[in-house]
Amino acid sequence: MTEKTAAPAPAAGKGLQNVVVGQTKLSLVNGTEGKLIYAGYNIEDLAEHATFEEVIYLLWHGKLPTQSQLEELRKNLFAEMSLSPEILALMRQFPKKATPMAVLRTTVSALALWDADADNNSPEQNRRKATLLTAKTPTIVAAWERIRTDKEPLQPRADLSLAANFLYMLKGTEPQKQEVAVMDAYLVLLSEHGMNASTFSARVTTSTLSDMYSAITTAIGTLKGAAHGGANEEAMRMFFEIGSADNVEQWFKDNVKTGKKRVMGMGHRVYKALDPRAAVLNSKSKAMAEATNNMKWYELAAKLEKTARADEDFIKKNLYANVDYYSAIALYTIGIPMDQFTPLFAIARVPGWCAHIFEQWADNRLIRPDVEYVGPMGLKWIPIEQRGN
Ligand SMILES: CC(C)(COP(=O)(O)OP(=O)(O)OC[C@H]1O[C@@H](n2cnc3c(N)ncnc32)[C@H](O)[C@@H]1OP(=O)(O)O)[C@@H](O)C(=O)NCCC(=O)NCCS
Repeated sequence: MTEKTAAPAPAAGKGLQNVVVGQTKLSLVNGTEGKLIYAGYNIEDLAEHATFEEVIYLLWHGKLPTQSQLEELRKNLFAEMSLSPEILALMRQFPKKATPMAVLRTTVSALALWDADADNNSPEQNRRKATLLTAKTPTIVAAWERIRTDKEPLQPRADLSLAANFLYMLKGTEPQKQEVAVMDAYLVLLSEHGMNASTFSARVTTSTLSDMYSAITTAIGTLKGAAHGGANEEAMRMFFEIGSADNVEQWFKDNVKTGKKRVMGMGHRVYKALDPRAAVLNSKSKAMAEATNNMKWYELAAKLEKTARADEDFIKKNLYANVDYYSAIALYTIGIPMDQFTPLFAIARVPGWCAHIFEQWADNRLIRPDVEYVGPMGLKWIPIEQRGN
């Protein structure tokens, strides 16, 4: 007998498309017009004028900081940036071939083991943990780059911003002004984005009354996928596969038009217009490519975008460049290893996830949706010896 049950309620669209799951004061993603606003401020203004630290304050407090509030935040972040000898010893045990995202996920989870208040979810403790996680994530990513290339991890410097400190600890050289400015803009642009998949998973974990380390670890695992944060690395690999701007049209015809591949870094669940972050990163990556006298990858990316945007399917399906497309070029030009692109996305997004965790705690209810059962009903128990092969 294979009768089916009736659906308990109208099923949500596949992938929960267009389902509104709550309210937020953090950001507005307007996919039709291609606009992004953080707590009232246009993303273009913030990318041009704000530092990452100012945006962290904005996301955590709902307003821009005064000079003294910003100094206080900087001081608190710097106080948490170093990694303990135990964490560094743990990271040295990891196989050198481990991927940076897996290392980040495991190390962030391990931080909880040395925090006596890991399971204390009071607002004060959660603020402290948000500062700690935001400060230590760049140090973990940089330390892993040093460890896997047989170099000593570096201590953060009190005179540098978060963006500059990350570049310094990664490369071991004094970061250049333009690199730091691009890094700051990247971190600002990627720090928050409504109810994306990783933010949703952080909120689901929080809603079960679990702790902040668990919620951030969950979010990192979700960000890792190629349909989400992993797309920046995949975009750069695609540019390499194409190899030269001259090959773009043929590659598009052979791979995208035949349905074999997608253009990584294009298309978006919400944006049906140009992702405003892609527009900013386009100009930043172009300026960076010009300054370093290496236009090859920028020109290839620009030509592929033009080719795709002239294609009737891309026009019909409203497929535009998303944030990962030009960020791949910007990060590559700064000298970030390709498999560190997604960890860098995580560095940017940790404060955004934390802000959502604060909102979830402020008005929590267990997130537990329903699902429509479409399997068989009324089957009779069959003893194992009568079940055949
Ligand atoms: C982001 C993404 C996962 C959104 O997915 P989604 O909203 O579930 O959309 P779908 O995967 O259902 O795609 C809708 C249609 O557009 C097509 N499409 C979507 N993105 C495409 C891309 N980058 N290249 C080519 N075709 C694409 C799909 O093939 C599908 O076509 P169909 O309706 O004829 O089957 C998707 O656009 C994608 O895979 N992009 C590449 C990866 C990426 O850049 N991710 C980072 C997002 S910030």
